[in-house]
Amino acid sequence: MKLGVPKEIKTHEYRVGLTPESVREFVARGHEVAVESSAGAAIGADDDAYRQAGATVLPDAAAVFDAADLIVKVKEPQASELAMLRPRHVLFTYLHLAPDPEQAAGLIAAGCAAIAYETVVASDGSLPLLAPMSEVAGRLSITVAGNLMMRNAGGRGMLLGGVAGVPPARVLVLGAGVAGVQAVRMAAGAGAEVTVVDRMLPRLRAIEAQLPGRVRTRPSTHAAIDEELAQADVVIGAVLVTGAATPRLVTREMLATMKQRSVLIDISIDQGGCFETSRPTTHAEPTFEVDDVIHYCVANMPGAVPRTSSHALNLATLPFALALADRGLDALRDDAALRAGLNVLAGQITHPMVASALGREYVEPLRALGA
Ligand SMILES: NC(=O)c1ccc[n+]([C@@H]2O[C@H](COP(=O)([O-])OP(=O)(O)OC[C@H]3O[C@@H](n4cnc5c(N)ncnc54)[C@H](O)[C@@H]3O)[C@@H](O)[C@H]2O)c1
Repeated sequence: MKLGVPKEIKTHEYRVGLTPESVREFVARGHEVAVESSAGAAIGADDDAYRQAGATVLPDAAAVFDAADLIVKVKEPQASELAMLRPRHVLFTYLHLAPDPEQAAGLIAAGCAAIAYETVVASDGSLPLLAPMSEVAGRLSITVAGNLMMRNAGGRGMLLGGVAGVPPARVLVLGAGVAGVQAVRMAAGAGAEVTVVDRMLPRLRAIEAQLPGRVRTRPSTHAAIDEELAQADVVIGAVLVTGAATPRLVTREMLATMKQRSVLIDISIDQGGCFETSRPTTHAEPTFEVDDVIHYCVANMPGAVPRTSSHALNLATLPFALALADRGLDALRDDAALRAGLNVLAGQITHPMVASALGREYVEPLRALGA
């Protein structure tokens, strides 16, 4: 198989689809890998590192798309990348299609196969290719919140953990999944007073067992969220319904009940966001204010720590990417986990939640594959 790794072009996105270590694995199995020049610069992997791993380094994205059949990326294709996709291409990357009809139309028009990292589902229901980035985003959210709470950043002028004799900040985490749990652990570690909300009781039990006495757990009811929101200095949004647009747990009206200059971090923004007032931002301009509440809605938070993120992502994607390289789309036929990642094939939407969010017809993946 001919693989292609273009340089990421989304604003302040510094991760790379394949590290040189991963490239070596493909080359060892007889595959060819084309990497765009300087694709790994931000993680300290220069063109020579890729050449030494056995890749060919090409000058631009057009040359990479031209040379490759399997494109391995990090973020969803931007307009210029959508224009380079052809029906022969298999695109393996994060897509987050449910809230993005424009991208869906682009992928449909391209006629390619698009496999979304975030909808690959393991047999136990976990999301193996989303998990490493959720871990990073969850941990990072508390670092970001700590910074935004500083007065010079516009915040309430508090430390997460307070100091002796001065109470700590109150952090509310919505969602006790992978990102939420990491946010809870970091916030509790920093000494904040932490409450976590989830609609699944087993999730609340698990976090309570991990941090006994250090975290308050509450169900995802209107009453609990109303009550906690009014007391929070920081709210982290980390809910997810796989493949669907994020449920809006906090409406604009509810902002009026919050403390002035409190901080909302909407990690879930890549699936639409769990605050009604969220809109995607970038690392270049990460925040905006609505009703005196600071919103941080960066859709690619792990891009800020590309070294940690690229290696963590590659650890998770490598076995699936190797299977695709070895067998092409046939790899999807007997691997239900990878098949669940197929969002678009030959102009058809092959993920039920994505189809329903976009109001398009759903075609079962095996039918679309012609099995
Ligand atoms: N912004 C970024 O850079 C970035 C990076 C990584 C992940 N993410 C996003 O973070 C979100 C969370 O990812 P995750 O891996 O932690 O997901 P997860 O599936 O592990 O956890 C989601 C949790 O949300 C809970 N949930 C669902 N509906 C709920 C509701 N109505 N009320 C309360 N809880 C509810 C689920 O029970 C689950 O525990 C996803 O949207 C993911 O795409 C964003």
